[in-house]
Amino acid sequence: MEDYDVSPYTGFLPSEFPLDRLPQAYYNPWEDLAAVLPSLILTKRLRSLVDKIPVLSINRLTTAREHRRAYVCLSFLVHGYIWNVDQPTDRLPKQLAEPYLAVSELLELPPVATYAAVCLWNFKPIVPVGTSMAQPENWDLDNLMTINTYTGSIDESWFYLVSVYFEYMGAFCVAEGLKVIQAARDDDIVRVIAHLQSLAESIDKLGSVLMRMEEMCDPHAFYFRIRPFLAGWKGMKDAGLANGVYYGNEETPRMYSGGSNAQSSLIQALDILLDVKHYTTGQRPTPNAPVAAADGESNFIHEMREYMPGPHTRFLEHLDQVANIRAFVMKHSAANSELILSYDSCLAMLKAFRDKHIQIVTRYIIIQAQLAARSGSSSTLRSGLAKSKDVKDAKGTGGTSLLPFLKQCRDETGDPAAGNW
Ligand code: HEM
Ligand code: ALA
Repeated sequence: MEDYDVSPYTGFLPSEFPLDRLPQAYYNPWEDLAAVLPSLILTKRLRSLVDKIPVLSINRLTTAREHRRAYVCLSFLVHGYIWNVDQPTDRLPKQLAEPYLAVSELLELPPVATYAAVCLWNFKPIVPVGTSMAQPENWDLDNLMTINTYTGSIDESWFYLVSVYFEYMGAFCVAEGLKVIQAARDDDIVRVIAHLQSLAESIDKLGSVLMRMEEMCDPHAFYFRIRPFLAGWKGMKDAGLANGVYYGNEETPRMYSGGSNAQSSLIQALDILLDVKHYTTGQRPTPNAPVAAADGESNFIHEMREYMPGPHTRFLEHLDQVANIRAFVMKHSAANSELILSYDSCLAMLKAFRDKHIQIVTRYIIIQAQLAARSGSSSTLRSGLAKSKDVKDAKGTGGTSLLPFLKQCRDETGDPAAGNW
């Protein structure tokens, strides 16, 4: 796992708490702006201040932790810069563009605010308890705070922190999944069943973590205040970014999807472990058309692997090659109903997670979009995410068609229609 920056204790979260500020005074121009970002956004002064800072080199950053901090800090400044005022701009100044392109390349991430930027590397403990990363007290949701936000609101912090906690809880799922693979290699049915049962319980807990979103993140604040800043610049025609964004002096604009939990390696790891396949929206195989009509698995979920830190993408690729659980269960299915039951309960829990997620999306996006359409509110228009008059055309920050995409992901989880059983 270490080869891929995956920790047995913290999963895809870093195994040391992220840096909350770059230690070199040289980077103060970035850090000083990021530290007061909500106020600069409120007063619409971010662009004019960014335009005055010098172009800094990333050569003075020395460790991976510093590279990540620079990426987080610049991600917030970049999205603030693009979306802050009523009219988004399609050009990033070289003060942001040059270091952002350089540090993103080092981290093997696209130069846009990914899930890694706003969640994985953007938190710290409120009160550090001991020094060991393995100490659970450090990681309780009640003891976490975010480093940067666009709005300074508790709703935004909570939105990110629920995901941090979800990743932390998910570390156990990954470790357990690897144990199932090993037990299957050893042809040890009893161990496979035990670890699958424990995996099912831990996936169930992920669903409960997800539902904690409602405790402190208000759907109205999320939809109108926070979400516009999460948007990317791919398919953002309605927002006036039809061609994307020019980075510094580049002559060709770039297009990137915005941040989305679809960029979390955790759920994708569970899909791979359990052999859940996803297809392009609207092109799912059926018993009557068992071979995917079009391009099989090439789809948004796979595209999002390009939006994960390089080592995590490679971890998923490796997992793809060694995942053996479904084959093992099928081989022994006739003789062992407990085995099938334990495997099926993992799928059922993952499907239940996706059901809960659809409920959240309905409350936080669909209902808010309907309210906005009725009241004629225009406060999310600048992001392009809510530009369409028809709620059915709403898009996710990642750029998907929301419910058709998410419902298909849910239906594909444990779906016998793919002809695998
Ligand atoms: C994907 C919305 C919180 C896990 C998506 C997508 C949307 C969405 C619209 C589709 C991709 C896109 O276009 O962006 C929301 C909203 C949330 C929320 C409104 C809270 C207010 C979460 C949390 C998690 C999560 C906390 C994890 C605990 C996922 C996953 C996907 C996804 C795994 C990929 C689709 C799948 O594998 O089923 N989300 N999300 N989401 N979200 Fe969320
Ligand atoms: N992906 C989430 C959205 O579309 C954040 O709002």
